[in-house]
Amino acid sequence: MESVTEQPDLSTTAGKIADLRARYQEAVLDPETVAQAKQHAKGKGTARERIDLLVDPGSFVELDEYVRHRTTAFGMDKSRPYGDSVVTGTGTIHGRTVAVYAQDFSTFGGSLGEVAGEKIIKVMELALRSGIPIVGMLDSGGARIQEGVVALGKYGEIFRLNTQASGVIPQISIIMGPAAGGAVYSPALTDFVVMVDKTSQMFVTGPDVIKTVTGEDVGMDELGGAHTHNTRSGVAHYLAEDEDDALDYVRSMLSFLPDNNMAELPVYETGFEFETTDADRALNTIIPDSPNQPYDIHQVIRGIVDAEDFLEVQPLFAPNIVIGFGRVEGRSVGIIANQPSQMAGTLNIEAGEKASRFVRFCDAFSIPIVTLVDVPGYLPGTDQEWTGVIRRGAKLLYAYAEATVPLVTVILRKAYGGAYIVMGSKQLGADINLAWPTAEIAVMGGQGAVNILYRGEIKRAEEAGEDVTAVRTRLANEYTYNVASPFLAAERGELDSIIEPAQTRVSIAKALRALRGKRASLPPKKHGNIPL
Ligand code: HXC
Repeated sequence: MESVTEQPDLSTTAGKIADLRARYQEAVLDPETVAQAKQHAKGKGTARERIDLLVDPGSFVELDEYVRHRTTAFGMDKSRPYGDSVVTGTGTIHGRTVAVYAQDFSTFGGSLGEVAGEKIIKVMELALRSGIPIVGMLDSGGARIQEGVVALGKYGEIFRLNTQASGVIPQISIIMGPAAGGAVYSPALTDFVVMVDKTSQMFVTGPDVIKTVTGEDVGMDELGGAHTHNTRSGVAHYLAEDEDDALDYVRSMLSFLPDNNMAELPVYETGFEFETTDADRALNTIIPDSPNQPYDIHQVIRGIVDAEDFLEVQPLFAPNIVIGFGRVEGRSVGIIANQPSQMAGTLNIEAGEKASRFVRFCDAFSIPIVTLVDVPGYLPGTDQEWTGVIRRGAKLLYAYAEATVPLVTVILRKAYGGAYIVMGSKQLGADINLAWPTAEIAVMGGQGAVNILYRGEIKRAEEAGEDVTAVRTRLANEYTYNVASPFLAAERGELDSIIEPAQTRVSIAKALRALRGKRASLPPKKHGNIPL
């Protein structure tokens, strides 16, 4: 005998509740089972699984699970799944509310049509109104081809909202599948982009189009995979080994960020030690006696942040500069540091752009910036000049000069030429500038200066048959000792003090304490015109 599903009696309350339960089963629970089968086969999670792993257990509140598209073209009216191709809502991370959306590749390839767009826009507007961060998880074939211009229009609205939300609420994108075509520009407009290794790709035009137009043969992963965007293009800020790693990284990152640009920074109990510790004393031996010998700046960073807890951002791109978040006395700081073990810590276009965007993020969200300087100068070369080191290098000057958050700078070793000025110098607006006794501050390094200042003396030594290398070294050392000494800068008040490396952690904490109430503003303007 055929089984008959009992229809609830909609004239009663019990019947209405039973109807709701049946609809929830149809809208959420049944599709989730189908989605799991499809996504797991590709080694990926479903939209709801991803959200559940991102937010605190049981905290997710879904929105719009009953919306359905209204498209009739291409037989679309025969398939009108509830919720369409994106899951949206709110949840908490470390107890603080965030807005989330996760594209559902198992429904129309996660493509964005009118209602999927409306759902994303609604949750973004909610985040903006409430002043809470938004995390987007992207896994989509892009604009829904069947819906044409309507789909494109929704992307336009999302880009506009991303831009309006920029600097108001933190926006983070996690790429967990394809992000193709113009769809890549929503993550590009957000503050941080995390990509999952092997399963995520971002590209404006795919391999097939490239082959047709330019004849180039390139695979999907090489073109726009997580490695490519973390190491070559700088589009991504973290290469996650899998989905869990991506979600963990974002949870950690949010623990450093305020909810919005008007909110207080989160403060954690970290048991800050005001006495000089053995770990502090270890910094006294970090600078090698030879000025050309590198060391790893991470050792210094770990030595000044609470519990050595440093969340690095963009570690694989322009590693000659290191950026990321830490805490001092339990309060978030942004760290920007030259890395002497990569390209001798020189500044190039990539490093400048990486640091500029980070300075601007920290400034927008009132996260104090600690700058650690060991930079021999800008990377010389036609490649740099012709690809715009003047225009693109100016961004970092602009970013520091515009920043009104507390700025604390410590010069560890080299600070030469324009690079001295750009790395959070007093003249650009830093509040407290400190230096180690190993600091060298001058227009250029000793060897370069000797070539110009002592040209005659070197020529004379040559003619007299003296050991020119020895003369050069003596003159360079004299120059470094007499002209590049940090005490000259301290004499002029360009440095506020010279400290032992072992005092750095506590000195930074005291400087940041003194600056907690900092108030600074810029002249009224619509907006500036940062060199782009
Ligand atoms: C409608 C789409 C779709 C799309 C995928 N699907 N992309 N439906 N619109 N844009 C559907 C497929 O038809 C398929 O449906 C299901 O999703 C899964 O797709 P597959 O191709 O089977 O998956 P896979 O082999 O993993 O390939 C994924 C993909 C490919 C690489 C993303 O689907 C693809 O190339 N899609 C088109 C990408 C694209 O060119 N989009 C437009 C970009 S331009 P069935 O029913 O078979 O399961 C754009 C403009 C934005 O986005 C503009 C902003 C200004």
